[in-house]
Amino acid sequence: MRIEKNYDLSGQNTFRMKVKCACYIEYESVEELAGIDFDSLPKPIKHIGGGSNLLFKGDFPGTILHSAIKFIKYVDMGLDEVPVIVGSGVKWDDLVAELCGHGLWGAENLSLIPGEVGAAAVQNIGAYGVEFKDLVSGVSCYDLKERCKCKFTAPECRYGYRESMFKEAEDRYIITSVLLRVSRTAGPRLGYKGLEGIDSSTPAKVREAVIAIRRTKLPDPEELGSAGSFFKNPVVSALDFTRIVDAAQGATVPHYILDGGFIKVPAAWMIDQCGFKGEREGGAAVYEKQPLVIVNASGEATPDDVLELERRIIAGVHERFGVSLHPEVEHIG
Ligand code: EPU
Repeated sequence: MRIEKNYDLSGQNTFRMKVKCACYIEYESVEELAGIDFDSLPKPIKHIGGGSNLLFKGDFPGTILHSAIKFIKYVDMGLDEVPVIVGSGVKWDDLVAELCGHGLWGAENLSLIPGEVGAAAVQNIGAYGVEFKDLVSGVSCYDLKERCKCKFTAPECRYGYRESMFKEAEDRYIITSVLLRVSRTAGPRLGYKGLEGIDSSTPAKVREAVIAIRRTKLPDPEELGSAGSFFKNPVVSALDFTRIVDAAQGATVPHYILDGGFIKVPAAWMIDQCGFKGEREGGAAVYEKQPLVIVNASGEATPDDVLELERRIIAGVHERFGVSLHPEVEHIG
C-alpha cells in the first residue's frame, strides 16, 4: 500500500490540472483496502480511477483513494460465454486489448476509452453503440458503511446512460472487481455510423477500426490534457425538439429517436452551431475536431479556466436552443 501526504495529483487526472490532495492512498488488494483506518483520514474521502473523467476544482482537502487491484481471471475458457473477473485497477483499454487478442467478442467497440475498470463500472462507459452494462453480470465492492465486502447483480447496479447506482451511493461502495461475460461467437455491432463496411472478421479488426476513428476525433491524453466528452448528450421531448429545429434556422438537426418518444440531440452539434469550436478561456479551449471535448490547450489551464468555459458554453447553448447541457465530467472539490 502506498500512502502519500500533500500529494501532487497532476499525474492522476488526464486534464493535467496542477492540484494537490491532503492524503493519497493506493491499495493493491481488498484486504489492504479493508485494513485502512478510514476514521483517521482527512475528509472528505474520494475514490478515483484513471482520473480521465474528472475535474478537480482546486486543491482537495481530503483523501484520494486509488485501486491498484490488477488481475484478469478467465473463469472457464471452455465456455462459449466466457466469464471473466477483472480487478478494478486494471486499465480499461489493456483489458479490451487482451480480450480482443483472445478472440473474445463484446468489448471491442469500447476500445481506447481511457480510465480504469472500476470507473468504467461506476459511470457505465459507452461508445459506438455499446455500453459497459452490455458486458457486466456482477460487481464486487467494499461497503464503507458496513465495513464489509458485498456483491451486486447487473440489474441492482441500475445502469443507464452514463449512470449507475454507484454514482448515487458513491460515498458508500468502492468497486473492487467486476464479472464480465464475453463471447466466442462472432457478434460484431456495426450500427454506429463510421463502422459500416469495416473488416469485422475478428474482434481485433473491429478494435483497429474503432481506434482509427477515435484517433481522428479525440485528443490523445498523452499529448493534450482533456477528460474526453465534457458534456452529456441531452435527451429532449418532441416539443423541445421542435424548438431546437426552429432555432437551427434551416440547418438539419442531427438526432436519434429513443424509446418513449424522447430524442437525443448531439451536444457537439449544438456547441458547434453556437460557434464555440476552438473557443479559448485562459489555457483551456474547446477542441477543434470534437467540440464536446474541452482541452488543456496550453498545458497550464487552471480549473477556473475550464469552469468559465463550461459556464459560457452552457449559457450559449441555452440561449440559442433552450437546452440545458449537463457535464459528463465529474467535478470534485
Ligand atoms: N458533431 C458536430 N460537430 C463536430 C463533431 C460532432 O456537429 O465537430 C455532431 C455530429 O452530428 C455527430 C454528432 O455530433 O454526428 C455525434 O458525434 P460523435 O459520433 O463523435 O459522438 P458524440 O455523441 O459526440 C459520444 C460519446 C463519446 C463516444 C462517441 C462515440 C457522450 C457524452 N459521448 O460522443 O464518449 O466516444 O459518442 O460513440 O455520450 C466520452 O464519454 O468521453 C466519449 C468520448
